[in-house]
Amino acid sequence: MKIIVCDDYDQMSKKASEIVSDIIKENPKAKLGLATGSTPVGMYENLVKDYEDGKIDFKEVSSVNLDEYVGIDKDNPQSYQYFMNEHLFDKVNINKENTHLPKEDGSLEESVKKYDKLLEEFGQRDVQVLGIGPNGHIAFNEPDDKLNMHTSIINLKEETIEANSRFFDSKEDVPKQAMSMGMADAFNAKTLLVLASGKNKHKAVEKFMHTDKIETMFPMSFIALHPNCYLIVDKQAYEG
Ligand code: F6R
Repeated sequence: MKIIVCDDYDQMSKKASEIVSDIIKENPKAKLGLATGSTPVGMYENLVKDYEDGKIDFKEVSSVNLDEYVGIDKDNPQSYQYFMNEHLFDKVNINKENTHLPKEDGSLEESVKKYDKLLEEFGQRDVQVLGIGPNGHIAFNEPDDKLNMHTSIINLKEETIEANSRFFDSKEDVPKQAMSMGMADAFNAKTLLVLASGKNKHKAVEKFMHTDKIETMFPMSFIALHPNCYLIVDKQAYEG
């Protein structure tokens, strides 16, 4: 585990984008695992800049995303598909056919099976970017007495609905379910890049720094099992 404490959000974003950029430079056919949410926005901005400056090329890059809300159309600005288009896919020369997010296609059960099949065929990623929830969730794997290995439909916890309500007009508008990679899927990458920024992540980051237990009630603790994991945090997340 490599823990990098940055002065602020911009430095964290820069560090994260450098790691992803280097992976793409080394392997133009890099397979990326991507995350949404406010944390990786700055990282995507830097990657777009690197692309515009001719430092990296997305032509042969492919990607899978961690999760998507249930019941939200992909053209809805609140969807994670929309987020990825807006922050990365529409701004670089990635072939959108090679980018994948969980999506509703048939029943929820069928959709889950389809995404699992897709992940299996996609194989191990070169890097997986992860944010953490204030409660330590990874992707949408919420604290629980059991965690899923593979794709599943998750009932979002009250605290996650609360945390994500900032992106919606009201808390009532936040979807109650999401389709998410499981823990085994989320960790199927040569490198894990776990990012945390801001005071509201401090409790989780501090708990992680002071525990030597792996707990399903604290999904973030599982990142300690990955052989090549970077935890990149800013001072606010680290010190509170
Ligand atoms: C997003 C995801 C979530 C977020 C987490 C943090 O694809 O899987 O686990 O990474 O909820 O969200 P932000 O970055 O908005 O604080």
